[in-house]
Amino acid sequence: MTLRPVGSEDGMQLRKRRHIDVCLHGPVEYETVTTGFEDYRLPYNALTQTSLSRLELGTEFLGKRLSAPLLIGAMTGGAELSGIINRNLATAAHRLGVGMMLGSQRIMFDNDAVARSFAVRDIAPDVLLIGNVGLAQLSEPVVPALERALDHVGADALAVHTNPLQEAMQRDGDTDFTGSIDRLRTVAATLRKPVMLKEVGHGIGATAAAELVDCPLAAVDVAGAGGTSWARVEQLVRYGEIRSPALAEWGIPTAQALLEVRRTLPGVALVASGGIRTGMDAAKALAMGADVVAVARPLLAPAIESADAVVEWLQHFIGELRVCLHGCGAADLAALRRAGVQPADS
Ligand SMILES: Cc1cc2nc3c(=O)[nH]c(=O)nc-3n(C[C@H](O)[C@H](O)[C@H](O)COP(=O)(O)O)c2cc1C
Repeated sequence: MTLRPVGSEDGMQLRKRRHIDVCLHGPVEYETVTTGFEDYRLPYNALTQTSLSRLELGTEFLGKRLSAPLLIGAMTGGAELSGIINRNLATAAHRLGVGMMLGSQRIMFDNDAVARSFAVRDIAPDVLLIGNVGLAQLSEPVVPALERALDHVGADALAVHTNPLQEAMQRDGDTDFTGSIDRLRTVAATLRKPVMLKEVGHGIGATAAAELVDCPLAAVDVAGAGGTSWARVEQLVRYGEIRSPALAEWGIPTAQALLEVRRTLPGVALVASGGIRTGMDAAKALAMGADVVAVARPLLAPAIESADAVVEWLQHFIGELRVCLHGCGAADLAALRRAGVQPADS
């Protein structure tokens, strides 16, 4: 299916629509960089004392109970199709008791008409719902508009995405990140909701994490390399081809980003995302110190199809995760964390 821009959509909406189109049909995943989870093995225990049907996957994240340690990754809002995507994702999140991140709400600041594409609280009244804005657009003066946008959708928390590489590859992207750490600190301290910092698939590593030691963040989502590369997406949107392959393949692999941030910020709530594709990826990430995992692009096509298709994808993923806990003798997530991982070549 090729999605055509529709007449009623303005520039930013058209860009969102192109992102969806390219993410559905283009070669947007890293070609040479992997998440690094393949370098680790979950210890297998042939004498597990668990029962597959009685494992406990429930956890708390940002003050809300989740039935599994899983968030639907930030994707969209603004384009007409985004409303369908968000509602199918939210219906699935509600049915399965997992959390959901919305796409960037910047478009809501000066366009009330697009707000309905983010509206999901009527179908998902209790899910952990995380709003979204770009660090490049974040400043103290936008806080009132941001709070209005978050209240409007009923968000429990805000994810701020930092994406200097993506913006640099985008035509007319926001490329001035000077002062962004101070602005993040100020907004995180001012906003009345918990704030999480995330990347978009190029990774938050040790150097960035060191800047966050005194920042009042509620969570960090490492959003590392190995899955969707937004430096690829933006080149495909802009040129229809990859003109800077080395930049398209640049990022901190998710497993490495996870270990670095966990070491630098031992107490912070941590999301592992970027190339999380299977329950085994999730199990390894959780065993390595993540509190929850997030999945974005694999849910895009199911979300256009139906809520049932999203539920089916997620149930398969959660089913694999359950088998991972069972097979390594972990009755719950704390036991999985204690089991840890081993180097794959040991
Ligand atoms: C269609 C699409 C739109 C996205 N839009 C946003 C966004 O608005 N805000 C954001 O923080 N991340 C956005 N992302 C990035 C994802 O949240 C995620 O960090 C990234 O795709 C890596 O995860 P993945 O490999 O599971 O796709 C988007 C991803 C996709 C696939």
